[in-house]
Amino acid sequence: MTKLPTLLRALTCLWALALCGATPADERKRPDQMPDSYIPVPPSDDTLYQALGGRQGLIRLVADFRIRLLADPRLAPYFRDVDETQFRERLVVQFCEVSGGPCKQAKHNMKRLHSGVDINKAAFNAVVEVLQQALDAQGVAFHAQNRLLAQLAPMHRDIVNVR
Ligand code: HEM
Repeated sequence: MTKLPTLLRALTCLWALALCGATPADERKRPDQMPDSYIPVPPSDDTLYQALGGRQGLIRLVADFRIRLLADPRLAPYFRDVDETQFRERLVVQFCEVSGGPCKQAKHNMKRLHSGVDINKAAFNAVVEVLQQALDAQGVAFHAQNRLLAQLAPMHRDIVNVR
């Protein structure tokens, strides 16, 4: 008589694993071809990169940005399980590129990268808000903040994937 509940419990666990074991980074869910509709064009000089503090400034900015993302209850669930080193390194390279810094072109496929999680407009705006706070905390001038955000904001077309 005790066998049926045990079997049911085992089946429930398997089902839960199948659902919850799928992490945001689950590659299997994503089609190979998901081209971005927006590709940022870096500025022709490095004044924005310098205003962000160059490489060391970006490393500090991204480290602080990540801490703030994890401290924000709206956003922590998205970033909790994301590989810290890879996230920080890639974000530094991306910010370096879009600000005119001396970074090798790394192919960031924003649409495909973010397709593993549901991201609505409110979540996108929350990330931008937290980035602004991190920029403020680093003492980045308002004009430079706006220039960086102008490079990144159109990415909402590829990153926001649910209403
Ligand atoms: C302009 C806004 C954004 C930019 C520039 C951006 C950029 C990036 C970059 C460069 C990475 C790391 C790339 C890599 O590991 O190859 C990343 C990963 C990630 N981002 Fe964003 N992102 C933005 C908005 C968002 C938003 C709004 C969310 C969710 C609320 C989000 C959630 C994530 C997650 C979960 C990952 C890890 C993905 C994975 O490893 O599978 N991002 N993002």
